[in-house]
Amino acid sequence: MQPAINPLVVSLKESATLAINQRVKALKAAGKRVYHFGFGQSPFPVSERIQEALRQNVDKKDYLPTQGLPELCDAVAKYYRDEFGYDFEGKNVCIGPGSKELIFEAIFLTEGSLLVPAPSWVSYGPQAALRGKHVIPITTSRDNGYKLTAEELDHACYRMGHKQKLLIMNNPCNPTGSVYRDEEMAELAAICRAYQVIVVSDEIYAKIDFDGNGTASLSKHYPEGTIVTGGLSKAFAAGGYRLGVMLIPDGLEPVMRALKSVISETFSAVSAPIQYAALAAYGDYPTIRPFVERTCDIHRFATRYLHKRFEGMGLNCPRPDGAFYLFPDFDNFRESFRARGIITGKDICETILEEAHVAILPGSDFYFPATNLGARVASVDYDGGYVLEKWAGDPASEEETRKLFPNLVDGSDALEKLLKAL
Ligand SMILES: Cc1ncc(COP(=O)(O)O)c(C=O)c1O
Repeated sequence: MQPAINPLVVSLKESATLAINQRVKALKAAGKRVYHFGFGQSPFPVSERIQEALRQNVDKKDYLPTQGLPELCDAVAKYYRDEFGYDFEGKNVCIGPGSKELIFEAIFLTEGSLLVPAPSWVSYGPQAALRGKHVIPITTSRDNGYKLTAEELDHACYRMGHKQKLLIMNNPCNPTGSVYRDEEMAELAAICRAYQVIVVSDEIYAKIDFDGNGTASLSKHYPEGTIVTGGLSKAFAAGGYRLGVMLIPDGLEPVMRALKSVISETFSAVSAPIQYAALAAYGDYPTIRPFVERTCDIHRFATRYLHKRFEGMGLNCPRPDGAFYLFPDFDNFRESFRARGIITGKDICETILEEAHVAILPGSDFYFPATNLGARVASVDYDGGYVLEKWAGDPASEEETRKLFPNLVDGSDALEKLLKAL
């Protein structure tokens, strides 16, 4: 049989992160040691408090309300009020199977083109494509840590004319590790208000900010037009639990109404035991806080270790201030690669995987053109359970670092060797 497939789906290619995982698996199966800097999953075990809550609620079998367990919605609103100063109540919260799904729903049920800073997370574009939406990348600059400026946003909005605009902002940022300052958000908010932009503030990496300044958000400066998303996947280290949250301000009530209708006709509600486990995470955050702070400290060390190494190799790389990513570029090696007939970022990443066994993703997966030589590096290729147990602050020597993060050290050595030999 040749079933006819929705053309919007047919045009999708395999997600870049899944594709690199397959490549790494194949190399490993062939007996190669691979440094997997291509995949960004929290390496830590789920905190005992959340695991215990899950165990205690395995008997919860009834369908929960479409919007989510009411106590959980209240706890999520309180968590965002207490920890970030946002102004939401339980009625503004919706629970979904991961924030990825909820972001897709927001894209699906709103009209208008999607603005994304370039570079941005790989999935926003394909999600928009599934809805037949036009994606408008706004190129940011390395000198500004790849953070969107008010001027860049203004020009993009201006060019779009009067049509409705949806903007996705991710802070702390995958793929760059950048973290916006509050003043930067205030300026962006002024532009959003001027053009009545609907913002999805993707805050899945909130709490993984190395300087502990708290996450700056458009929700503080432009609350009426900002939808916030988050979940258990990153700071709570429970990606596989598949629980995400979306907080929709009163001013965007039609979005909440539409979202509830879509959920009621699709996944109905998130698994009940998982929602009860999430209640422990959000409702009892003071108990979880030490885990989050300790793991954030480890992310800081691991990510900044790679930053130091990349600078030492002659790569341009803004210093990461959060999440677990870096975005170095190979501009200083452009001519050396060109001499070998390699001109695209994708081919450079392919060469690095083949010759140094280091897996990274090219800038073209993050809304940059093919000849952009930026690449995304994830800093989580280590045994999180082991490091968490042994962690006693920054390792004192390279040898100590190698004991805790062998792949980060050896992968950096392998990349350095390849670049030196060019
Ligand atoms: C930038 C960004 N947003 C959203 C998500 C989705 O997270 P989840 O669906 O696990 O909540 C991810 C996961 O990798 C991400 O990196």
